[in-house]
Amino acid sequence: VRTVYVIGIGSGDPDHLTLQAVAALKRVDVVFVIDKGEVKEDLTALRTGILDRHLEPGSYRVVEAADPERDRGAGAGEAGRSERYTAAVVDWQDRRGSLYASMLAELADGETGAFLVWGDPSLYDGTLRLLEGVEGIEVVSYPGISSVQALAAAHKIPINRIGESVLITTGRKLADGFPDHADSVVVMLDGQCAFNTVDPDTKIYWGAYLGTDDEILVSGRLGDVAQEIERVRREARDRKGWIMDTYLLRKPRKD
Ligand SMILES: C[S@@+](CC[C@H](N)C(=O)[O-])C[C@H]1O[C@@H](n2cnc3c(N)ncnc32)[C@H](O)[C@@H]1O
Repeated sequence: VRTVYVIGIGSGDPDHLTLQAVAALKRVDVVFVIDKGEVKEDLTALRTGILDRHLEPGSYRVVEAADPERDRGAGAGEAGRSERYTAAVVDWQDRRGSLYASMLAELADGETGAFLVWGDPSLYDGTLRLLEGVEGIEVVSYPGISSVQALAAAHKIPINRIGESVLITTGRKLADGFPDHADSVVVMLDGQCAFNTVDPDTKIYWGAYLGTDDEILVSGRLGDVAQEIERVRREARDRKGWIMDTYLLRKPRKD
């Protein structure tokens, strides 16, 4: 049998790696690396740093492949759930699926391979879903510190208010309106500053490059800090060439 680990490596701080993940890494024969382009070379540096720190040089092979191009224009700017957007993502994931299959062919019977996944494999990451359909492998998932936990720790806040619910969603979804049944909403994958569409009395806890030396935090009433976040975000993205940010929105109390 061939074993494939999906290992969450945390969201920026190499110390986010759990002891369980380190032990798993040490059992790995092959590390699968999907190259997402030079723009996010800091991310590649984190992954390389983790491997160098925990594994003996020469004790594992690296199988690398370039991430298939995704049609990011499809459905962009259309309100809500767009069929064209979904079709573009599905098509991209299909091509990624074929890529995974060809990478896995490099794994011999009895060997163990690993995909190192940003944050936690359970949150907005396609790796587990893509491996689900692959025959002849046994998949094991190792949790990591997601950007959601890193955000809460950086702001020193709990994610939920006492007895209330939390919703994790995307900027695209938030643009449809603040969800009715959630008191706290965590927003990921927001390139459009969708927080501008919600009640200015909402409280925001925003963080970019969480867990890294470049971490930036801003919090406050949206009406007071939204413009500052947009400015800081734009400047940081221009300086580094990419940005990853996440935020928590807390519904204003009616009482
Ligand atoms: C494709 S998702 C992957 C999420 C990841 N699996 C996790 O557990 O955090 C990428 C999104 O995660 C968030 N993110 C990941 N790392 C981050 C970081 N270091 N700082 C801020 N946001 C981050 C951003 O919202 C980004 O758009």
